[in-house]
Amino acid sequence: MLDRRTFLQSAAGTALALSTQLHPLLAQAGEGRSANDAIQLALIGAGIQGQSDTSIALQVPGVKLVAVADCYDGRLTHAKELWGADLVTTRDYREILARKDVDAVLIATPDHWHKQAAVDSLHAGKDVYLEKPMIHVYPDGPAIIEAAGKGNRILQVGSQRVSNVAYSKAKELLAAGAIGKLNMVSAHWDRNSATGAWDYSIPPDASTETCDWPRFEGTAPKIPFSAERFFQWRKWRDYGSGVAGDLFVHLFSGTHFITGAHGPTRAMATGGLRFWKDGRDVDDVLLALFDYPEGFNLSLHVNFVDGGEESEGFLFTGSEGLMEIAGDTVTVSRTPVESEPGFTVSTFSQAMQRAYVQQYRAKYPPAHPSGPAVQDVQKFAAPHGYSDRYAHFNNFFNAVRSRQPVVEDATFGFRAAGAALLSNLSVQRDSIVHWDPEAMKLV
Ligand SMILES: NC(=O)c1ccc[n+]([C@@H]2O[C@H](COP(=O)([O-])OP(=O)(O)OC[C@H]3O[C@@H](n4cnc5c(N)ncnc54)[C@H](O)[C@@H]3O)[C@@H](O)[C@H]2O)c1
Repeated sequence: MLDRRTFLQSAAGTALALSTQLHPLLAQAGEGRSANDAIQLALIGAGIQGQSDTSIALQVPGVKLVAVADCYDGRLTHAKELWGADLVTTRDYREILARKDVDAVLIATPDHWHKQAAVDSLHAGKDVYLEKPMIHVYPDGPAIIEAAGKGNRILQVGSQRVSNVAYSKAKELLAAGAIGKLNMVSAHWDRNSATGAWDYSIPPDASTETCDWPRFEGTAPKIPFSAERFFQWRKWRDYGSGVAGDLFVHLFSGTHFITGAHGPTRAMATGGLRFWKDGRDVDDVLLALFDYPEGFNLSLHVNFVDGGEESEGFLFTGSEGLMEIAGDTVTVSRTPVESEPGFTVSTFSQAMQRAYVQQYRAKYPPAHPSGPAVQDVQKFAAPHGYSDRYAHFNNFFNAVRSRQPVVEDATFGFRAAGAALLSNLSVQRDSIVHWDPEAMKLV
């Protein structure tokens, strides 16, 4: 544990360091790469996140996009518009995996395709950047971990916040005792808009001609074509995992990265569909509580009918202060422990009050004043222009070259997504759910 003076010195030093120098990941990005270091990338799932991810991945020096697979023709057309007419495009990702000129794939399909696309890619010898949540259902976890391990492949899960310098700072501060003993973590992600509630646009040409519906369905139950399900799949459990898989998973990734914990042992959740009653079968409000074996509790909520601006963040509560994370900033408010416990004797007889205070002062001499606790507030911010998404891709491509571990491997990804899905199970079963975070198994 740091004493107050050392903490303040270290805090001031860190603030300076963060404001004046770039994170090592950013610095590495500028290093020259020889031609044979080039990494040939393919995209599987060229929707909103897939296209956005690719544009960031291509900013990392030495990365080239060679092929794109998607089930909607309009997105393949737009991929060529964005990245050149010579780009290979296909509805069937297996054509991409058969190509020798593809080193790594970026998978940004709906959740129900994550496992199959990842396992097929790993078996084909490709390194994989797999969007979160890593799993859709629990058996996906061991299958992906095994496939990555067998071929000695690199697999990075796409909760980019674990590459954020603010999260590294929070981890360092917590380990240094900046807020004393951690008792509780509260995190939330609230929204109040139609697109925030997953009402994504459906293109006017959506049909069975332009959308490969059977391929999109995959292992999901077979039903007639639905443009809503194709383009707004998060609203149905057959393809997504509700707000738990979409948003809680980011909050678990952050909590696990910062605390070093592997996951909760108990979970209880409640929620409901409060506002967006448009035919979806997942809730728009979810509240959940988790017990961690490290001796702290986690409280999470997502509210899609918040009545305000979208906001997300963490509050770490410790015995000596609070640490808040909002975006790329960390704020520590420190209230050191009392130097003496104080007393509540005023209702005792005067004789007893005197006797108590006499005993008390013998134990706590006045040299230990009990005045108001000192509060220190320190703020840390990532450098201007910092992007955790770039840092996360840079971490992945560095690992592809060096064969060193990534920051968010399949085991980390399963522990985060497995913990998130406990919330859905708890709501469905109307009971407390138990999980073994080491074995990564439901108990
Ligand atoms: N890391 C983050 O912050 C973040 C943000 C948004 C989305 N995501 C994740 O990215 C993934 C995609 O989300 P999105 O919003 O881009 O969805 P989207 O619907 O916009 O895109 C998904 C695309 O996958 C395609 N697809 C479906 N099945 C396919 C298959 N078998 N082969 C090839 N393509 C297939 C669809 O045609 C669609 O174009 C999700 O897993 C989501 O959780 C992560």
